[in-house]
Amino acid sequence: MDRIPIILDCDTGVDDAIAIMLINKIKKFDLKCITTVAGNVEVEKTTRNTLRVLQLIDAGVPVYKGADRPMFRKQITAEEVHGHDGLGGIDLPLSSYDVKNLPAWDAIYQEAVRCDGSLEIITIGPLTNLGMVFTKYCNFKNLIKRIVVMGGSATSGNVTPAAEFNIYADPEAADIVFNSGVPVFMCGLDVTNQAYYTAQELEKLGKIGNQPAKFFRDVLQGVLSYSLQFGCPGVSLHDPMTVLYAADDSIFETHHVWIRVETKGQLTIGKTVTDFSSDKKYPNNAYIVTNLQRDAFQEHVYTLMSEYS
Ligand code: RIB
Ligand code: CA
Repeated sequence: MDRIPIILDCDTGVDDAIAIMLINKIKKFDLKCITTVAGNVEVEKTTRNTLRVLQLIDAGVPVYKGADRPMFRKQITAEEVHGHDGLGGIDLPLSSYDVKNLPAWDAIYQEAVRCDGSLEIITIGPLTNLGMVFTKYCNFKNLIKRIVVMGGSATSGNVTPAAEFNIYADPEAADIVFNSGVPVFMCGLDVTNQAYYTAQELEKLGKIGNQPAKFFRDVLQGVLSYSLQFGCPGVSLHDPMTVLYAADDSIFETHHVWIRVETKGQLTIGKTVTDFSSDKKYPNNAYIVTNLQRDAFQEHVYTLMSEYS
């Protein structure tokens, strides 16, 4: 089987950590590297967390540190969700792996050149690193097969009524990506909020019994409490769902649409304005994922997590 070259760009917080554990077990992916960005917490912490998760799963994937702030704005974080350390206070052992000595945006470009058009990028944090690559390298758009994004929403947001965190954190970078001409597949809150786990389902996953599965259960329980207070049925696995979508879209519903990011509005900044071709006024430039089969999603997660010893 020809494996798909992949870069995962993340702001390792709780659900990013789960996504890293899952992508490590997806056989069709050739994970070239992981790049980190400021988002849930500061980039020093997202990078440290990424290295610690890789230590937990004994995966020596190269890690490159990226932007420590948005392209044009002050950094915001999501510590209220992910905790001050980004991993909900769950203390993972120190990592024996070191971050590589090259900025993430240069590492992404160099890998894109090596892959000569076959590279796919999965982003599960703010899009600052990609905004930097597109800005620095004018031919980058010709070197990327597609970008699968956890972010945005055609309906309501989670930071404001209009905007989801990853887009809201750096709307200008997101607008560069959605406007780049590279096919963008948006896994927004419309579908990622369907990919939730209840307390009972977390307990069942933890009973797989290996250390990664126990970490999966423990690290999500903190976010679960936060989610339940807003009336959510469980904790949404935004980033893990995005990775599984990139691996197999057969259990999802996808539509070809027009999407642009609001970068100016006072109340709507960071909104991914989405036209489901109601009047064909705008050319479709992206894909939005709208539905998933939750049972099939959880079965895929269970299978992958069971592969750890
Ligand atoms: O809105 C959810 C997204 O914001 C997820 O990627 C989560 O990790 C945070 O980065
Ligand atoms: Ca994330």
